[in-house]
Amino acid sequence: MDINSIKTIGVVGCGLMGAGIVETCARAGYSVIVREVNDGLLEKGLKRIRASMAKGVEKGKLAQADMDAAMARIKGTLSLADFKGCDLVVEAAVENMDLKKTIFTELDTICRPDTILASNTSSLCVTEMAAATERPDKVLGLHFFNPVPVMPLLEIVRALLTSDETVELGCALGDKLGKTVVVAKDRPGFIANLLFVPYALDAIRWLDAGLAGKEEIDTTMKLGFNHPMGPFTLMDFVGLDTLLFIADAMYAEFKDSRYAAPPLLRRMVQAGLFGRKSGRGFYTYTK
Ligand code: 3HC
Repeated sequence: MDINSIKTIGVVGCGLMGAGIVETCARAGYSVIVREVNDGLLEKGLKRIRASMAKGVEKGKLAQADMDAAMARIKGTLSLADFKGCDLVVEAAVENMDLKKTIFTELDTICRPDTILASNTSSLCVTEMAAATERPDKVLGLHFFNPVPVMPLLEIVRALLTSDETVELGCALGDKLGKTVVVAKDRPGFIANLLFVPYALDAIRWLDAGLAGKEEIDTTMKLGFNHPMGPFTLMDFVGLDTLLFIADAMYAEFKDSRYAAPPLLRRMVQAGLFGRKSGRGFYTYTK
């Protein structure tokens, strides 16, 4: 399989990340099939894609005709069996290893033997997902960043048995999608979260210790380092539940206190304060 043979991309899951991946692939000219588990979630995901592209049109980044053409390239489904003709599939389901392994095993039987299978996981082991298939050499991580159509990075994860050819194909796909690519080994957190998570957890620890308020800490990192968002705004944006999940996965693997979630983060997640998506995290949001 070479990059020019990739015409149709399947995306499993149309949540925040799945929808962004679908939009980015469709805008790059690919036919995209996206699977959700029920009509309600599929409709919500497709609406999210439409709204994001409309914002692109409004901001002058996308012509209306290109938006219409990209929307026409997207097909929703409730069945993985419709991925039969896909040349590459990106799994962007919830971060649950058992679920991901089930999806990979199903895709392995549904898709052609040369189809590339990828996961957008931010912290789970890609090698373990690959082991749920008969084609571990054709499995890799494609870790996108939120908001996917805007963020220029694609982190490629080389699992233990991923072939050089598959990594090269992932890099070529990143190029077609207009992303800059970095390649990392299969370790929880890869490059981006391995560095971001201890920074975020430290910000929580220092807030809890009374060093300064969240606004002061955010302002420091925004104005002192030119970060577009301070750590608390960014954690709310990523989702505190997601951050906790990643930190726990990293701690489970490395047993290093840098990755141990501070009690305040765990309490907030237990209380349902997930950040922007739930309306309240470190800050409060109105729709
Ligand atoms: N299509 C094309 N362009 C779009 C677009 C769309 N759908 N939506 C927005 N844009 C463009 C805008 O036109 C604008 O371009 P410009 O700079 O040339 O004017 C740019 O994208 C920024 O958009 P907005 O004006 O709407 O918003 P802001 O300027 O407030 O930026 C932000 C919003 C891009 C989210 C910015 O705050 C940011 O970069 N934040 C940090 C995001 C980040 O760190 N993400 C990574 C999270 S971690 C992750 O995802 C990994 C996981 O594993 C945890």
